[in-house]
Amino acid sequence: MNFFPKNLLEMNGYKFFLFGCLFTSLTWSLSLYMYWKLNTRPDNYSNVKLFRKENTFEYVKKQKSKYFKNHMDKSGINDLGIIKTDDDMATRDKGYKDHGFNALVSLRLGNYRETLPDTRHKLCSTIKYDQNLPSASIIICFYNEHPQALFRTIQSVIRRTPRKLLHEVILINDYSDSENLHKIVDQYINDEILQGIVHLKKTNKREGLIRARLFGANLATGQVLIFLDSHVEVNTDWIQPLLTRVRDNRTQIIAPIIDIIQPDTFDYKSSPLVRGGFNWGLHFKWDSLPKGTLVTDKDFVKPIKTPTIAGGLFAVDREYFNEIGQYDSGMNIWGGENLELSFRVWMCGGSLYIEPCSRVGHVFRQHRPYSAPNNEDTMARNSLRLANVWMDDFKKFFISKRMDLLRLDYGDVSERKALRTKLGCNNFEWYLENVYPEMLLPTDEADRLSKKLENVDKPIFQPWNKRIRNYTAKFLINLSNTNLCIHPIKGHQTKNSKLVLRSCIRNKEQIWYETDKEELVLSKLLCLDSASGNPVIGKCSETGSSQRWKHTDDKGTAFYNLAAGTCLSVNEKRINAEVVMNICNNESSYNKWNLVIV
Ligand SMILES: *[C@@H]1O[C@H](CO)[C@@H](O)[C@H](O)[C@H]1NC(C)=O
Ligand SMILES: *[C@@H]1O[C@H](CO)[C@@H](O)[C@H](O)[C@H]1NC(C)=O
Ligand SMILES: *[C@@H]1O[C@H](CO)[C@@H](O)[C@H](O)[C@H]1NC(C)=O
Ligand SMILES: *[C@@H]1O[C@H](CO)[C@@H](O)[C@H](O)[C@H]1NC(C)=O
Repeated sequence: MNFFPKNLLEMNGYKFFLFGCLFTSLTWSLSLYMYWKLNTRPDNYSNVKLFRKENTFEYVKKQKSKYFKNHMDKSGINDLGIIKTDDDMATRDKGYKDHGFNALVSLRLGNYRETLPDTRHKLCSTIKYDQNLPSASIIICFYNEHPQALFRTIQSVIRRTPRKLLHEVILINDYSDSENLHKIVDQYINDEILQGIVHLKKTNKREGLIRARLFGANLATGQVLIFLDSHVEVNTDWIQPLLTRVRDNRTQIIAPIIDIIQPDTFDYKSSPLVRGGFNWGLHFKWDSLPKGTLVTDKDFVKPIKTPTIAGGLFAVDREYFNEIGQYDSGMNIWGGENLELSFRVWMCGGSLYIEPCSRVGHVFRQHRPYSAPNNEDTMARNSLRLANVWMDDFKKFFISKRMDLLRLDYGDVSERKALRTKLGCNNFEWYLENVYPEMLLPTDEADRLSKKLENVDKPIFQPWNKRIRNYTAKFLINLSNTNLCIHPIKGHQTKNSKLVLRSCIRNKEQIWYETDKEELVLSKLLCLDSASGNPVIGKCSETGSSQRWKHTDDKGTAFYNLAAGTCLSVNEKRINAEVVMNICNNESSYNKWNLVIV
């Protein structure tokens, strides 16, 4: 049920401390990313045994064209992320700080990306959707968004949504810091095809995601509301399945599958089928599906019943959204609103589903690039509001984790309580029993606990150092025209060890194993990583691209890092010279390397 090891679940206080902080700052998107990573099982466990001489670099060399196609163009590096000038470097660095993703790549991708992989199950493309579906108002709120990320969101919606189904796009600028951003967006939507469809509005003060969305929802006139984040790209036929489900039952709220757009490279990847849950710290999390949910092919195109939604992207009938009480406008900025909506909808007669044939890619930012005014912990305050309105006695499980919140003022919730009475809702116990029977209670006895755990597929959790990798080559990395090789200064077992040049020697300190994921693993233990600026050896994470390196098999190849956009180099050719990352310059002999096959 939970992708964290079970013993962690039981170490309650510790768990909250550890993951609470993480989720508050990194949001649900990171958790999906981690889930996806942990759940990616290597296709073939027996592969490591195949790592013999013929499976090494020499072998790969014979199939050169095939293998190196994925690597690097012989004529040079032609990657979207390559840094050619100091300006490029500044754009990228500022982008990570302001937006949590590689803004240089975002800029170069431009306002629209023509081709995205169709990540749907093959049966989805055979479904014929009714032409007469209700039309939608798409509501996109943004705050200090990177312009191209926002424009790709808008363009993908315009170009991948049948005109008939698109009532309007409402853009809400939630009082972004830069006046200029508003002008840029305003100019942009003056475009011929966008005119009359896209409407830009601005709030009068910073409202936060929740109230900005309400502002947009109250302006909308389409029959269905679809909320989107401002850094997404919708995929083929994304809207038809959402509108079909809402039309068929107006009390269903439907979320698409959130595909992954990688923050360093903007690679678009398919997400696993999972559903939404939560923990007693009131953080949203992704859960495996109950056993038996996906058996036949047809199950992959059926809507997936979900106890909660992540909240960033969903479709809802506009009138139903109003009847059911929209959002709690007493909540500030961000956090908890998705659980509040989820509990309320289920408890008050509606339902929530995830639609596997609707795919929307979302940029998984490395961090939430903004905080609330005065650094208020809005997640904690909002969670208190929802616990006090919806969770009855069960709120004690939350409070017991957060004794620090006992004295926090969460404002007046009497209106929300009145709403609950007016709608005649079921209680929270009903919700747990009927909608989320797999939810673990701190009071569950051992046998009840194991029954619940049996009911769901557990994702495969492989500790990073036991992960099975597909090694494709084995070599020393030798600086051209010298007898010097790359060597970890603190030894091959020390995390974060920097690298220097030393005399070449075929031992554990210098033998790099390359994997099919373009990692370079020193002695099969730690991965070459550019994340902290200069290269170090670190835990092989398989998240992000700072551990992905491209090169050719030529003498004098560059080693290009996908996240950094720069190349492995030195500033001096001598023993103990530090290995650094520099702009890839093919005229320089300080970043040309030979692979010495061992
Ligand atoms: C719509 O969904 C609700 C909640 O699942 C259900 O109770 C109701 O019967 C459904 N209505 C129709 C017309 O199918
Ligand atoms: C490193 O490369 C140079 C040629 O660029 C070569 O002369 C030298 O022998 C290589 N070192 C090793 C250990 O292979
Ligand atoms: C290992 O990587 C090679 C090279 O990319 C690939 O051809 C092969 O299919 C991979 N094997 C497995 C089991 O993934
Ligand atoms: C370096 O790259 C440029 C552009 O790709 C190319 O024109 C030039 O010939 C290259 N120089 C060398 C020494 O390879």
